[in-house]
Amino acid sequence: MTRAVTLLAPAKVNLALAVVGKREDGYHELRSVFATIDLADRVRVAAQRTLEVRIAPDVGAPPGEDLASRAVRALATAAHRDPSAFVHIRKRVPVAAGLGGGSSDAGAVLRALATIWQPQDVDLVALGASVGSDVPFFASGACVAFVGGRGEQVEPLPDPKAIHLVIVRMRERLSTKDVFAELRRDDRGAAAAVDRLRAAFARRQITPEVLRENAQNDLLGPAARLCPAIADARSRAAGKGIALSLTGSGPTLFAVADDRRDALRLARILRRTGLVAHAHTIAR
Ligand code: C5P
Repeated sequence: MTRAVTLLAPAKVNLALAVVGKREDGYHELRSVFATIDLADRVRVAAQRTLEVRIAPDVGAPPGEDLASRAVRALATAAHRDPSAFVHIRKRVPVAAGLGGGSSDAGAVLRALATIWQPQDVDLVALGASVGSDVPFFASGACVAFVGGRGEQVEPLPDPKAIHLVIVRMRERLSTKDVFAELRRDDRGAAAAVDRLRAAFARRQITPEVLRENAQNDLLGPAARLCPAIADARSRAAGKGIALSLTGSGPTLFAVADDRRDALRLARILRRTGLVAHAHTIAR
């Protein structure tokens, strides 16, 4: 019997994100292409008689209300077990950044605990939706996926050849809830870009140009209204000929590079403008 599992919980970027409607439950209907990157938390889950979740450094969530604790409880309920486990999370992904760090930890907890508990007939993707909107994608284990609904529809896409990005981290934090609340009807317009990107991944026709042309996000307008540093960073980058796109509800930004060398070059140029920029890849 497996008693302990350690997994990497990768961050994600939304290569494109469209808000296509508001639902009766208050959530928004999305269409997005999600991709995991080579920046990850480390999540260790072990069998234990009580529930103990340690997150280092601390993310500031009230005890028991972090997404990892909620994931343990959700799987325990579905598997008819006591919600008891030891979870240790070593955080490297910035919090409230639009990189899905907390959701990825929850997805990793679901996958690790399912390996330890071996529950029958539990759909981790469906269960993930009860923990948080981005959790189904991470519970699926896909590297790239089309995500629809409020986040619960996950259609894995073929793994691409290496995609090189520059991630620009911001000091500010943004609450997803606040960004959605700030959204206006005229912010919407990225749906066609999402569909083009999804089709290009499905046909394995992804190039840096296709990624750059379609890197649109309907949450950019509301996020930039709440966080002026976003517009400032984008205009500094634009001054050097570099287009920065928003991931999720922000404030993290990214640029698509031609290859690894180009990513290192772009990151250097962006750092010279005072931004915190690092080269990354889309990776499993
Ligand atoms: O599901 P999660 O807790 O991650 O969502 C945080 C908040 O973001 C929700 O309370 C909701 O206000 C907003 N949200 C939304 N539509 C989505 C996902 C999130 O309105 N599809």
